[in-house]
Amino acid sequence: MTPRYSRITGTGSHLPPRRVTNDDLVAELAGRGVETSNEWIVERTGIRARHFAAPDVAASDLALPAAQAAMQAAGVQPADIDLIVVATSTPDMVFPSTAAILQHKLGIAGCPAFDVQAVCSGFVYALAVADALIANGTARRALVIGAEVFSRILDFNDRTTCVLFGDGAGAVVLEASDAPGILATDLHADGRHVGILCVPGHVSGGQVLGEPLLKMDGQAVFKLAVGVLDKAARAVLAKAGKTEADIDWLIPHQANIRIMQGTARKLHLPLEKVVVTVQDHGNTSAASIPLALDHGVRSGQVKPGQTVLLEGVGGGFTWGAVLLKM
Ligand code: ACO
Repeated sequence: MTPRYSRITGTGSHLPPRRVTNDDLVAELAGRGVETSNEWIVERTGIRARHFAAPDVAASDLALPAAQAAMQAAGVQPADIDLIVVATSTPDMVFPSTAAILQHKLGIAGCPAFDVQAVCSGFVYALAVADALIANGTARRALVIGAEVFSRILDFNDRTTCVLFGDGAGAVVLEASDAPGILATDLHADGRHVGILCVPGHVSGGQVLGEPLLKMDGQAVFKLAVGVLDKAARAVLAKAGKTEADIDWLIPHQANIRIMQGTARKLHLPLEKVVVTVQDHGNTSAASIPLALDHGVRSGQVKPGQTVLLEGVGGGFTWGAVLLKM
């Protein structure tokens, strides 16, 4: 039987209009007695600005225009979509899934729609799941989306975390294809590290218990991230029978420029081969990779036929990589 592959046929993204520069944030935080500076943020992270959604905007509201842009680029209509997978840690509701809410906003019904929760690795997890569902014949044309309103779970009294994150959404249309497309995927989790990056509050009996705001041990995350990203990159290259010399573009999770530099260095890739958007978006968790991919495609950097390595890492601890041909 001819193997069925999946291939990205369109990308799209959306950022909420409110752009908050480091200086804007410094001024806002000063009003709370929280001290930080543009210099500290740029030097430690590479971030210069991020976008924050308005209070009435949910993840599905950001996902919708991103999905529409990806469908337009792919030349498909909502009715052609037969699978929706949304990666998010900031869903519209506890349930139903943001994917089901998005499906309704797209004006379609019937196809499977579900969320994937793997924090900042969410998009590579979602892409790997959609790829498998296309390969086994369950779906032919999937929308795979990362969408986050991380500003909702930030503690704006904690300068060590609130300066790092932003809101946004990125999407791809993934279609069945006779040729790859997705060459290999590699996913991992290690729950021993739950405590270094988490939102410990939860809902029980209709009440929020604990504090539903992000907590992070930045240094512990940093140390783990560079090591696991390198392992995932090597694993996915080996599965596809490729080497680091075959990579045209590295599109890593956009958490911190120093993590990206460290990852590229270990793969012997010059920074010119890395799509970097962290300076403009901050860390948008599951949305960061598809946002960067769409930026790479629309800016003309990432071209059809090129080999792209996507890499995610985040809370869980989770990590993973997808190697693909555009
Ligand atoms: N402004 C000014 N000073 C600050 C700020 C701030 N915003 N935040 C921390 N500091 C201070 C600290 O208080 C500390 O001061 P001290 O030395 O007087 O105690 C000093 O700066 C250094 O703090 P460190 O935590 O050691 O700074 P570090 O160089 O490790 O940078 C950072 C912190 C940027 C968080 C880094 O550790 C990092 O990027 N870690 C990875 C984070 C990450 O990628 N997270 C996302 C993962 S994806 C996900 O799933 C969400």
